[in-house]
Amino acid sequence: MSTRFDDPQSHSRALFERARQVIPGGTSKANFHVRPHPFYLTGGQGCRVTDVDGVERLDAINNFTALIHGHAFPPLVEAVSRQLARGTAFAASTPEEVALAELLVERVPGLERIRFGNSGTEAVMMAIKAARAYTGRDRIAKFEGAYHGYYDDVQVSYSSGPDNWGPDDAPVSVPSSGGVPKHRVLETLVLPWNDADACERLITHHAAELAAVLVDPLANRMGFIPPAKGFLESLRQITRRHGILVIFDEIISFRVSYHGAQGRYGGEPDLTAFGKIIGGGFPVGATGGRAEVMEVFDPGTRGARIASGGTFSANPVSMTGGLATMRAMTPAEFDRLEMLGDRLRARVGEAFRAAGVPGQITGAGSLFRLLFTDRPLRSYRDLDLTAEGRMERLFRALLDAGVLLHTTGLGCLSTPMGDREIEQIAAATEQALSGLDRD
Ligand SMILES: Cc1ncc(COP(=O)(O)O)c(C=O)c1O
Repeated sequence: MSTRFDDPQSHSRALFERARQVIPGGTSKANFHVRPHPFYLTGGQGCRVTDVDGVERLDAINNFTALIHGHAFPPLVEAVSRQLARGTAFAASTPEEVALAELLVERVPGLERIRFGNSGTEAVMMAIKAARAYTGRDRIAKFEGAYHGYYDDVQVSYSSGPDNWGPDDAPVSVPSSGGVPKHRVLETLVLPWNDADACERLITHHAAELAAVLVDPLANRMGFIPPAKGFLESLRQITRRHGILVIFDEIISFRVSYHGAQGRYGGEPDLTAFGKIIGGGFPVGATGGRAEVMEVFDPGTRGARIASGGTFSANPVSMTGGLATMRAMTPAEFDRLEMLGDRLRARVGEAFRAAGVPGQITGAGSLFRLLFTDRPLRSYRDLDLTAEGRMERLFRALLDAGVLLHTTGLGCLSTPMGDREIEQIAAATEQALSGLDRD
């Protein structure tokens, strides 16, 4: 049996031939574009997944960071199986929705109220609408290089480059996707990460129109560059001065601690968007924040200024999966994952140096990202945007060595992992990097 998904005789190849007749490009997972064609998985157990050709790999991407316990986590399988037999979706709320809301409000310092949706994209959209309804203003600001899902207002300037991004201290608003109306692109103000002076100038200049500044405190697309000392505090001061809300996108970065990214980095957001791990692997999104702001969603008061729907919002399967997942994520479990993450970052950093390949590994807690630049990173513009080809070769070499990352070099750990898996990822990266040199 072939061990390579791109072998013309492989089952992945055959499935791709069928899939391309009915699905554009043969996959709906468009953010995981693998050449010459996608590969297909049949199952996962713990931290390993198996493809249709029977090849098992260590899963170090966990459905784009959404699965913090890997696959088929026994407490989750048990809880969700019981829920499946009781009912999967109702017109009314369930106790599981209330319990998950309580858990999150208890853990996250800036959270007083929260409501659920079906995806991270939807969570960000709800937060933006809330900020608009609350402030009566229309525009939002976001940071260059930060991805926040595929809502029109935020598909701006997360893939811009030197030919179109404009001055360092006044980035141009550039569409990052087709299908976004030009006026929506221009409506979004783009800010440079970690440049407090430029942010103050730009925000002050547009203050009267700005409803919110959208912040991912540890943005994956930007290479997980943490906020510089004092940067979030400075943003908070400027925004408060002008009555502008701060929205945190913790859809990925919630992984970094028991109290979330705001527990770790501060920043005092008014609103926070969640997704991924809080649904335990089922579709989920959530928007939370200060009670006074969140009141715009309350359908029972005159404050309900937002008309919203959501047939599957807060469905009991996602809520039950989220509860089983988050209850098992104790402070000690977050600490253990962080210790493993630190060990991996140290080992892989050493592998880059030993292979003589300019690069680095960034990230925090259970999140990591491989990057082909050894420059100190302050903002999106410090990344090497020409490294796509090299990253694709590294991704494929890791795949051959039995480790599945994201095609961009993004990876994350899960609780079934231990020292052995850290060693496997580090050794595979070492091997892949030394192979790259000979290319
Ligand atoms: C930081 C961030 N925000 C928002 C989203 C959108 O979430 P979803 O894919 O669930 O719509 C993502 C997805 O990867 C993300 O990484």
